[in-house]
Amino acid sequence: MRKLSALICLLTISQLLFAQTKPVATPVYKDAKIAINQRIADLLKRMTIEEKAGQLNQLNGGVFTGPAMNDAGQKGKVQMIRDGKVGSFLNVTGVKETKNIQRVAVEESRLGIPILFAFDVIHGYKTIFPIPLAEACSWDLPQIEINSSVSAKEAAAAGLHWTFAPMCDISNDPRWGRVMEGAGEDTYYGGLVAAARVKGLQGNLDDVTHILSCVKHYAAYGAVEAGREYNNVDVSRTALWNKYLPPYKAAVDAGAATVMNAFNVVDGIPASANHFLVEDVLKKKWGFKGLVVSDWGSFGEIIPHGYASDNKDATLKALQAGSMMDMESQIVVKYLPELVKEGKLTMKQVDDAVSRVLYFKFKLGLFDDPYKFSDEAREKATLFSAANRAEALKAARSSIVLLKNANNALPLKKSLNKIALIGHYAKSKEDMFDFWTANGSASDAVSVYEGLQAKFGNGKIEYSAGYNADASTNDKLISDAVAAAANADVIVTVIGISGKIAGEERSLANVNIPDGQIQLLKALQKTGKPVIALVNSGRPLVLTQAQEFSNAIVQCWILGTETGTAVADVLAGDYNPTGKTVMSFPYAIGQIPVYYNHFNTNRPAPEKGDGAWKSRYRDIPNAPLYPFGYGLSYTKFDYSGLSAAKQMEKNGTLNVSVVVKNSGNYDGEEVVQLYIRDITASIVRPVKELKGFRKIALKAGESKTVSFVLTGKDLSFFDGDGNVKLEAGAFKVFVGGDSKNVLEASFDLK
Ligand code: GLC
Repeated sequence: MRKLSALICLLTISQLLFAQTKPVATPVYKDAKIAINQRIADLLKRMTIEEKAGQLNQLNGGVFTGPAMNDAGQKGKVQMIRDGKVGSFLNVTGVKETKNIQRVAVEESRLGIPILFAFDVIHGYKTIFPIPLAEACSWDLPQIEINSSVSAKEAAAAGLHWTFAPMCDISNDPRWGRVMEGAGEDTYYGGLVAAARVKGLQGNLDDVTHILSCVKHYAAYGAVEAGREYNNVDVSRTALWNKYLPPYKAAVDAGAATVMNAFNVVDGIPASANHFLVEDVLKKKWGFKGLVVSDWGSFGEIIPHGYASDNKDATLKALQAGSMMDMESQIVVKYLPELVKEGKLTMKQVDDAVSRVLYFKFKLGLFDDPYKFSDEAREKATLFSAANRAEALKAARSSIVLLKNANNALPLKKSLNKIALIGHYAKSKEDMFDFWTANGSASDAVSVYEGLQAKFGNGKIEYSAGYNADASTNDKLISDAVAAAANADVIVTVIGISGKIAGEERSLANVNIPDGQIQLLKALQKTGKPVIALVNSGRPLVLTQAQEFSNAIVQCWILGTETGTAVADVLAGDYNPTGKTVMSFPYAIGQIPVYYNHFNTNRPAPEKGDGAWKSRYRDIPNAPLYPFGYGLSYTKFDYSGLSAAKQMEKNGTLNVSVVVKNSGNYDGEEVVQLYIRDITASIVRPVKELKGFRKIALKAGESKTVSFVLTGKDLSFFDGDGNVKLEAGAFKVFVGGDSKNVLEASFDLK
């Protein structure tokens, strides 16, 4: 017996020795030499259904170091990582924090699947760019792409892999706080901007300076009724196909990695559980192969919508519709296993979703080097660099829109003696920033006050608050402001609303300039000094009264870190404003929604003359105060010689050209815009549709011929089933410097 046990002992030792010497095979999924799809297939085979559910679970992270780890919730999240129940975190930022969590996932979970870290980098991470609505007013797609690429570079340097941008929601309602996140009211331009932002954010996803983009909010979130946040959406199928869907598709066509469900319903079905939107259109018709992530809690919110009876039902409906990752409802991780066991969800459906999550983790190289984005030296060198701020300044300058400049009140002469700078917002940095400021710090920003001081000299700026932080005013504040203006050559006043009221869950029923500021403007105008009003807002406000008491109106939006420097460059004429608004400015709140690409109606009101029994208001004009595409320059651009052929074949093209002359005294840039109108079609078409633009530079006195080529695609539209229609008949073509002041010509499509 002793011999036998000795033999067994000997055998065991030799096996152990042999085992230690025989190289352990690297699992296929961990082998960087193997193709991604094979690695995914190998990993899926190894995963339990619970671990697959975990990959579809995205949690809000927060801080996992220091005292935060005394919190049971945080400890619970770390244990979920170890249990393979978290695929992604949002709101964990910085190399230190992300590396700490990545280590737990890679070294302490059974399969070591890395985490995707996501964050809302909407217009900058540390260097804050103008809000998206503002940057869109630059009509400078290459700069817009650069803005996104700089934002991605900073985010990636901070350990992040994914941002929830670009927002592609078309909206006509400035009561909705989220108009600041989009590219305005035009579908064609919104699609071009969306594509530029995707390219800027993602590049080829083959380095550590680009991150996954996310097309949101799919779909038609910008159509919330009355501009009220999270409100109902009810749009026709023709509007869905022609007005709302194209920008999402443009972003998908540009290679967007992920898409986010919208909170709202479409055709009465919540977007998160909308099989038509997700399976039929996004995945089948558009061929989207990326990842669909819910909005915050939107899977669970299928219940209050009245479309699911409980969380298990909501999980089933979301996943059956083709949606995938669950942001913060925490119901997929809970119910997916039992839904599969009950046969209500197939393993194929689950694997399709999970494989898309795993694909991006492989594509980003996280399986081969989980700490690839975790370089503290790179983080320090990249964030808030001078080069990044220089791009933010360029973006800020070109986002500014000059709306009024009576008697050439602007630009200001550098030789002036004194500027009375009036307005709480001129110094208040936190009011210059919006809800989506990522890890940017208001204290890093250049205020208007600081910008003007640097430009004109400290002694030349006399500041007075003029109104309180809540925009209210009183006799004392007004009299102090008037006194400050007494010895000034010019008054510059910053009006508008705080950036804090721009963004999600910030709808306003009242989008007028606050009464206190109107009172202040009236008093300042009485001084007889020129009044330059700078408007700080994340949306078009009603400026009808304000412009009455101002010599100049400059829409500054929310410009980010380099606000003051950009504003000073424009006011001093060192930068000739080029911005053109991408959202109409209502004449009055009652006009909302007001937009340029409206239908003609059965009784269109004449612009002038008798509007009896026509589509009109009795108390205000139909036209907005400032139309889509409008913006002034310090110089003047004249349009002449519009030329277009009289006929175009369906499979042909139509050449259009126009002569643009800089007839003023300043070199400048002009956004030449081309619109069409399909006079008669199988569904009514808008009175104008933007189909092209050129941003051109012209020296004082210089003329240029600007040419466009229209194709059948430009003249096409969708029917209610999403079929493309190109119909012969009469068309008009318009060219001008905005959507109202245009030259026009007619042609027939044969
Ligand atoms: C929010 C927003 C969405 C954002 C997400 C994560 O509710 O609707 O745009 O990306 O949650 O913060």
